[in-house]
Amino acid sequence: MANIVIIGSQWGDEGKGKIVDLLTAEADVVVRYQGGANAGHTVVIGSHQYILHLMPSGILHPGKKCVIGNGVVIDPATLLEEMDGLESRGIGLGDSLMISKNAHVIMPWHKALDGAAEARRSGGSKIGTTGRGIGPCYAEKMERSGIRISDLVNPELLRAKVDQNVAEVNFLLARIYEMDGFDANQVFEEYAAYGKRLAPFAGDASLYLHTAKQAGKNILFEGAQGTMLDIDHGTYPFVTSSSSTAGGACTGAGFGPTHIDGVLGIVKAYTTRVGAGPFPTELLDKTGDLLQSRGREVGATTGRRRRCGWFDAVVVRYAARVNGLTGLCLTKLDVLDECEKIMICNAYKYKGEILREMPNEPHVFAACEPIYEVVPGWMAQTLGKTSMHDLPQAAQDYVKRLQDDIGVPFAMVSTGPDRDETIINFNPFSWQREVI
Ligand code: GDP
Ligand code: IMO
Ligand code: MG
Repeated sequence: MANIVIIGSQWGDEGKGKIVDLLTAEADVVVRYQGGANAGHTVVIGSHQYILHLMPSGILHPGKKCVIGNGVVIDPATLLEEMDGLESRGIGLGDSLMISKNAHVIMPWHKALDGAAEARRSGGSKIGTTGRGIGPCYAEKMERSGIRISDLVNPELLRAKVDQNVAEVNFLLARIYEMDGFDANQVFEEYAAYGKRLAPFAGDASLYLHTAKQAGKNILFEGAQGTMLDIDHGTYPFVTSSSSTAGGACTGAGFGPTHIDGVLGIVKAYTTRVGAGPFPTELLDKTGDLLQSRGREVGATTGRRRRCGWFDAVVVRYAARVNGLTGLCLTKLDVLDECEKIMICNAYKYKGEILREMPNEPHVFAACEPIYEVVPGWMAQTLGKTSMHDLPQAAQDYVKRLQDDIGVPFAMVSTGPDRDETIINFNPFSWQREVI
């Protein structure tokens, strides 16, 4: 039995969906614990591609339980659309889904406020949010007036909360943003219908997980976003509004830290970021374009082009520290197949000073210049390889080099989007390690 947390070690989109799907073969329960439909997790199985926003990426394995924890902010319309989309593709949900009654609900005004706040921010201070209402929903939760799933599925409670919140939000929209408000009756009718459909899935997720643990089940916690987008540990204010580091799994699922057996960080063989904010190793040249096109780096949620750059070992060492990583999974190695030389950033230069650790101050990080070390590329195909020994020597050296720089072993190396295009060095569930 093992309970493993999967997190993004950079700025999101590291390939968490692929790895969660792969590891679900050995898990009994898969849990989303933070974020919302700002996430876009891609799973590729043969010629079929699935992009999951709220549904845990274990849903494609029949018979596994998928749990949406209390820390997630749920847009019911998006969730129902996702559920219907899966059913229409022959993925029956049956009783495989449980939604925490304590999870908060994204209401229409959260999306309106997300857009309005972004529109008011001037040039350099725009965050480039996904527009999914994430920040305003978490703000309302922290302010203690949010609407939870337990309210959504209870028409009486929902009515009272909608009336109260619409009055507040209409005042805010009119006075600050000069925008039209919402009609409480209309919102209630729409959301009560969502509540009716979701009611059979609502439950005590923390208790369910506790019982599963007691029964010796393997639980996989699926993080969304990535360490550098974490509200506390990321590049604030260019972050999301939840705890996307490993600790978020405990608070976002109601699961004790003493029951977590390992934390697996997913990391791309280069770096990407979507949205605004500092990114020291960003490449604004032909190499950046090459990574973008070979890696098909387009946002799975918003369709925006992802910014691309070289591997930043300072960022990933930081991720290893704040998440307590016990293993790493390197993804998209194949994207580098056409690079003659590859750069690795191991330190920054800031006003003539060498920094080897992530600076706390955002303005310092924004002014950091990467110090690169150059390693040879392999100029050969790694796509689809399933053994370290089949990789060209320079690719093996690159993987070993990153492992040494970060100081955490690679449990897996992914060489393509498909489930099968993966090198497994050791199984994170059994933690039986073969030295690579
Ligand atoms: P997530 O948000 O971390 O789940 O990642 P996304 O799904 O947003 O983005 C990762 C993208 O890379 C998806 O299109 C995956 O299908 C794809 N992908 C994952 N692993 C690999 C890999 O090893 N090689 C290649 N070429 N693509 C990969
Ligand atoms: P997955 O789970 C990459 C980014 C947005 C924006 C910032 C804040 O697929 O890795 P938000 O809508 O959350 O308030 O936006 O965070 N962002 C992501 N970037 N992958 C994600 O999720 C992201 N979720 C949010 O682009 O910069
Ligand atoms: Mg994504």
